Amino acid sequence: MSLRNTVTRWGPVARFLHWLFLFLLIGAWYAVEMHEDFPKGTPERREWMQLHFAFGISIFVLLWVRLGWRLSGDVPAPLPGPRWQQITSALVHAALYLILIVMPLTGLLSTQLDGRAVSWFGLVDIPQLLEVNKDLAEGLEEFHGDVLWPLLLALVGLHAVAALWHHFVLKDDTLRRMTWPRR
Ligand code: HEM
Ligand code: HEM
Repeated sequence: MSLRNTVTRWGPVARFLHWLFLFLLIGAWYAVEMHEDFPKGTPERREWMQLHFAFGISIFVLLWVRLGWRLSGDVPAPLPGPRWQQITSALVHAALYLILIVMPLTGLLSTQLDGRAVSWFGLVDIPQLLEVNKDLAEGLEEFHGDVLWPLLLALVGLHAVAALWHHFVLKDDTLRRMTWPRR
């Protein structure tokens, strides 16, 4: 069995990476939610936030692996359907890729400008490279959490509803070929 995509199906690597991203996104969201439950200055609050950073950085690094894999081979052609649906779907996918780059970048930049220590699961420490600027850090944090996050949620929601629509209403293979394709 080939690991690569073909013009009719997503290969196992693309499928694994796709669902890994869903897991990492849920992890990043859960960690930042949990940190809210602890008062400022407590070790638990810091640890949940470090977990948020680690999930977010993993998304940023793996995104380049995912894009590299996608751009270096075939991708399945869209299943037959109206042209507007194919264009909307391509636009939503492009927007998802873009936001998955900008979201961790704004997060990382805000921690740099805030002078906040960041480590990837305690294994790799991100060096402080920028001069601290608390005002700018706050603005970026707001952009990250209050603008980009709702945008990402809306895109993922639209994307998931479209996939379920294909599966349950149109009854085509769109979702199946991203999960367990027919032999
Ligand atoms: C795709 C990846 C990421 C997603 C989906 C994400 C999502 C979020 C969400 C949902 C919040 C909470 C917003 C709110 O409640 O207002 C948040 C806050 C934050 N994120 Fe991220 N994030 C990501 C990556 C990162 C990275 C890589 C960093 C830094 C290394 C980071 C740093 C922050 C900071 C500093 C906050 C503010 C937390 C606070 O209240 O102190 N994020 N992020
Ligand atoms: C919530 C459940 C989700 C479902 C049911 C789902 C379903 C699917 C399906 C069926 C495809 C294949 C579309 C096609 O062949 O034309 C796909 C592709 C894609 N999905 Fe999802 N997805 C989900 C979550 C996510 C999340 C969380 C992200 C990222 C934030 C994401 C990003 C993408 C991208 C970028 C593509 C296009 C792949 C490419 O062309 O390289 N998906 N998704």
